[in-house]
Amino acid sequence: MCGIIGYTGINEAVKKVTQGLEILEYRGYDSVGICASVGGKLEIVKTKGRVSELNKLLANEPIQNDLCAIGHTRWATHGAPSYVNSHPHMVGKTCLVHNGIIENYKEIKSRLENEGVNFVSDTDTEVGCGLINYYYEKTNEPYEAILSASDKMRGSYAFAIMFSDEENTIYAIRQGSPLIIAKGQDGFYLASDLTALIPFTKEYYSLCEGEVVKLAGNKAEIYQKGEPQWKRTDMTYEMAKKGGYDHFMLKEMYEQPKAIENSLSSRIKDGLPDFSVDGMDKSFFEEIKAIHIVACGSAMHAGLVASHLIEKLAFVPTRVYIASEYRYTPPLTIDDTLVVVVSQSGETADSLASLRYAKEKGFKTLGIVNAVETTIAKEADYRAYTYAGPEIAVATTKGYATQVSLMSLFAICLAYNKGKIDTNTAKDLTTCLFSHAPKALGEVLERRDEVKEIAKLIYERDDIFYIGRGIDYQMSQEASLKLKEISYIHSQAYAAGELKHGTISLIECGTPVIAIATEEKLFDKIDSNVKEVRARGAYTILICDGEMENAQECADKVFILPKSSYIGNIFSSLAVAQLIAYEVARLRGCDIDKPKNLAKSVTVE
Ligand code: F6R
Repeated sequence: MCGIIGYTGINEAVKKVTQGLEILEYRGYDSVGICASVGGKLEIVKTKGRVSELNKLLANEPIQNDLCAIGHTRWATHGAPSYVNSHPHMVGKTCLVHNGIIENYKEIKSRLENEGVNFVSDTDTEVGCGLINYYYEKTNEPYEAILSASDKMRGSYAFAIMFSDEENTIYAIRQGSPLIIAKGQDGFYLASDLTALIPFTKEYYSLCEGEVVKLAGNKAEIYQKGEPQWKRTDMTYEMAKKGGYDHFMLKEMYEQPKAIENSLSSRIKDGLPDFSVDGMDKSFFEEIKAIHIVACGSAMHAGLVASHLIEKLAFVPTRVYIASEYRYTPPLTIDDTLVVVVSQSGETADSLASLRYAKEKGFKTLGIVNAVETTIAKEADYRAYTYAGPEIAVATTKGYATQVSLMSLFAICLAYNKGKIDTNTAKDLTTCLFSHAPKALGEVLERRDEVKEIAKLIYERDDIFYIGRGIDYQMSQEASLKLKEISYIHSQAYAAGELKHGTISLIECGTPVIAIATEEKLFDKIDSNVKEVRARGAYTILICDGEMENAQECADKVFILPKSSYIGNIFSSLAVAQLIAYEVARLRGCDIDKPKNLAKSVTVE
């Protein structure tokens, strides 16, 4: 949520920073700006809108001799998207860009205003800038100023800061929001997200909470610690590009079969699930008596599917919590309850706060995370990476699919280690997951044209319902979210049997109702539920297993899933739903990779 990038080195700072901003744009895209250090002066160029708008301004009035710059792409929290509210902000000698929220900014603002500081924007960021400047003018010591200001601020922040009297130098601090520095041949970089640095270098260091870093000339220095401990990433620039696809979302959907294999392969030994690579051995699984899965949005939906499998296979009571609500729920059981925090970005504020809450209450914690070295991964007692690779589209696809695949393997492992399933069953289930999931999903993606036809039938509607039972109900919640977030069509997922207890009154002539039916024992019941809405005028679409009898007569339109297994069907039905969302959004001319009002990596509560 909001993207930060900075560079100081030997040449073309503005070009590098704007290139990085293009990559970071998925983190927020309502305004954008840069500040460059030019001949002892700071020059700011900013605008409402996207990086392309900034590039136009820079093309008209290029910044020359730029060796150092910081940039920001914004997802508005305090103050509407506008020129004044966009970053960088400058107060006195201090200029900065910011991610996060300064919760006590009002109180700081009024104190500074009493001291004569004049603010022009509605943002908390400008107040943070004013506070650092206040201490800087007092001490003339950047480090002291940043630390004193940080001491007074509550909330989460990552700042990249330049001072007008210190040429070609960037300072940075993080507290609760990620910030990464990197070392290139041509100088030093900094960004809120490693992906933005990949075109330039692979050597990076992820700042710890509260660390202040100074990047200048040929030196990166962490205060009171010295030289950072550099690490290397194996991400490539290709991974962060569209690679011939029209949208990142489409590319990432097609990457799913491989991503699922990556998420599973290092955790299967001799055909059985084995999480020892993540430090989770037999006794770890044996001790688990209950599980809380805590996450937001799609990650929470992945938890719903996983909870179904965990209870079905391992008989371990599992509750799924929306992360923003978790802290308001009294911890009922602590002993031997595992809290699993699921997050693609590893930085989602509510998920992180839940993790900290769970640790504070004495729970054992596991982070299931995609982005390596992120805060949730670092702070959880145990971590298992999903290895989906960079996910750029705001709407998650491969992130979700790998969360489901990894947690499905976890469910099998738990059931096996608790003696709820024997070795042969555990092996069969593992094989099913490893071979059927990617295969079934890939086979659906090859039938994109069929889904295009379905999309044409429904894209002009205002409301669409998804219904399902059992695991299909859990999956349909993700299907519905995907559709609404990128197509802006109102959509809701309902347990198929629940619709008639009120919501069925919303069904009108032609309202699309998409039913998912992958479990044989539930075919008859879902068939009845489809009939109920069909009788009330709904346009019905059935996504079902090929074994469902007379499927073609059950609904107005039918998509038969490729022949697979119970587990394979979870992934193939997901692929149909993702394609429906994508094709509907496309027909409606939506900005698929950057849906309105959204941003990836929600680092505010
Ligand atoms: C929807 C989507 C979001 C995220 C949610 C959690 O497509 O991407 O609902 O799943 O914001 O994000 P992470 O997994 O990064 O914690």
